[in-house]
Amino acid sequence: MNNNTATVYHRIFQYSRPYLGRIFTALAASLLVAGTDVSLAKLVQPLIDKIIVAQNMALVHVVPVIVVGLALVKGTCRFVQEYFIKTAGQLTVQDIRNDLYGHSMSLSMGYFSRNSTGNLMSRILNDVGILQRSAADVLVDGVRESFTLIGLMALAFYNDWKLASIAFVVLPLAVVPGSFIGRKIKVNTRRGQETIGNLTRLLQETLSGIKVIKAFGTEQRETESFRQENLRFYHFIRKVLKYDSAAAPAVEILSSFGIAAVFWYGIHRVLSGAMTQGELFSFIAAIFMMYTPVKRLTRVSNNIQRAVGAAERVFEVLDVVPEICDAPQAVPLGRVRGEVAFDGVGFAYEKELVIRELSLKIAPGEVGALVGPSGGGKSTVVGLLSRFYDPQHGTICIDDQDIRQVTLDSLKRNIALVDQETFLFNDSIRNNIRYGRPEATDAEVEEAARLAYADAFIRELPKGYDNHIGDRGLRLSGGQRQRLCIARAILRDAPILLLDEATSALDTESEAMVQKALANLMKNRTTIVVAHRLSTVMHADKIVVLEDGRVREVGRHAELLKGDGLYRRLYEMQFK
Ligand SMILES: Nc1ncnc2c1ncn2[C@@H]1O[C@H](COP(=O)(O)OP(=O)(O)O)[C@@H](O)[C@H]1O
Ligand SMILES: [Mg+2]
Repeated sequence: MNNNTATVYHRIFQYSRPYLGRIFTALAASLLVAGTDVSLAKLVQPLIDKIIVAQNMALVHVVPVIVVGLALVKGTCRFVQEYFIKTAGQLTVQDIRNDLYGHSMSLSMGYFSRNSTGNLMSRILNDVGILQRSAADVLVDGVRESFTLIGLMALAFYNDWKLASIAFVVLPLAVVPGSFIGRKIKVNTRRGQETIGNLTRLLQETLSGIKVIKAFGTEQRETESFRQENLRFYHFIRKVLKYDSAAAPAVEILSSFGIAAVFWYGIHRVLSGAMTQGELFSFIAAIFMMYTPVKRLTRVSNNIQRAVGAAERVFEVLDVVPEICDAPQAVPLGRVRGEVAFDGVGFAYEKELVIRELSLKIAPGEVGALVGPSGGGKSTVVGLLSRFYDPQHGTICIDDQDIRQVTLDSLKRNIALVDQETFLFNDSIRNNIRYGRPEATDAEVEEAARLAYADAFIRELPKGYDNHIGDRGLRLSGGQRQRLCIARAILRDAPILLLDEATSALDTESEAMVQKALANLMKNRTTIVVAHRLSTVMHADKIVVLEDGRVREVGRHAELLKGDGLYRRLYEMQFK
């Protein structure tokens, strides 16, 4: 067992601690289950010697009573054991899954852009699932069968230690193939789970991109790559199955040597009078009854390996330290006036700086506009202010507070963001608008929708505000979705409003309307607006032209037009 595996056990144990009560109840019950099995093997001896060989008719009636009685005890205890241990396993794994989900939510945007969501989904669903199934198996069978095995071995040694030594001389030999098989199973489970991660990613990607696939007619190609990935999974799982299937036969073959020796030596001893028939049969019954526990235990040890493989993948995610989190002495940020200042900010997603030496100040209540060619860094600036990422150089302050020194929670309360990705939850329109302020009343929701020019089209829907986004037949246009997102931001009522191409999907007419609405909205707050259409930004207090992550020009519309820079060229391209 390497250190890593030991750590995995330890961590799983930590998770199971709250359920130790259930586990101990189950352990006590398994002791009784094992006890009944051992008693059964033990009782073979008096059955043969005292009843059959001695031809004692009076005791014959006792036999069925004992058999049924033992079965009753065993049955009851098995129920108690399985029920408590399985629920303990489920509860433990449920806690792990909750932690994993909670932790995933706290990971930074950087993690999500480096890792596919499919992979993460697969860990939360499939790997935890494996853990769940294996944990139940391991705990139920592992504990009970070990007790039974120990009891039966003790009985065998108690009956005849010489015979027992012969029988178990092969036992140590079984350890070698056992550990080899276990290792193989662990490695291949891990690899198999990685391909399951790829499968989930593929599924998630292709199902959400189904329109593109249909448009390009690439169904065949996608089916083929799914088939390939599925086959890769089979490739690994086949090995797991192979080693898993080999485990029991290997043990069986090895133990046949022991059994052969027992028969040979045992019969000798009975014939020479050193042992009664009953003693031999009781001994052999014990050995045969060991078959089941031994076979189950090899499966258990394989299941443990499988669970460790899956658990490693789970803990890997749990061990990712969120890059963006509250500083140790973070203070809550009250409701801000809304002064935003970037000072010498430099930022790279990977190696190359995409924001360089960016300094920029927007006074409370002002509208700042970011314009420039795509890839210039506009969305990155918005993301930095929202603290999706932290800059490598310089500082970003709101009301003279470095945003890295305030709590994330309070920072987010001061910001409302609308971006190009008009993401809506599969919930009612009302709840989607209310998302950023769950306590808002229906009247407030509708007021926000009105301001975003969304109220009219929502009322025309069959169920109005109660329509679900995922409802069949509900087809919202890009512009309508954007207006819902804007309504959501309006209701949030934060002092800083970030609009990243928030009106790009609107037609000219509705854009003009939404512009008016936004103009109302911008009155008492600081707004940073990113837009391609310069008509949207003409009235901004400060227009910042970004190119290659650098500020090229800053000024008002009229000033920038007078110059002969990038802004003027962009303007001429759009209006001539
Ligand atoms: N998640 C990311 N990981 C790596 N590079 C990124 C990421 N997002 C954007 N970039 C890169 O950063 C640069 C600026 O992008 P962006 O801020 O989206 O520009 P804009 O919004 O002005 O079009 C581009 O070169 C883009 O390729
Ligand atoms: Mg952008």
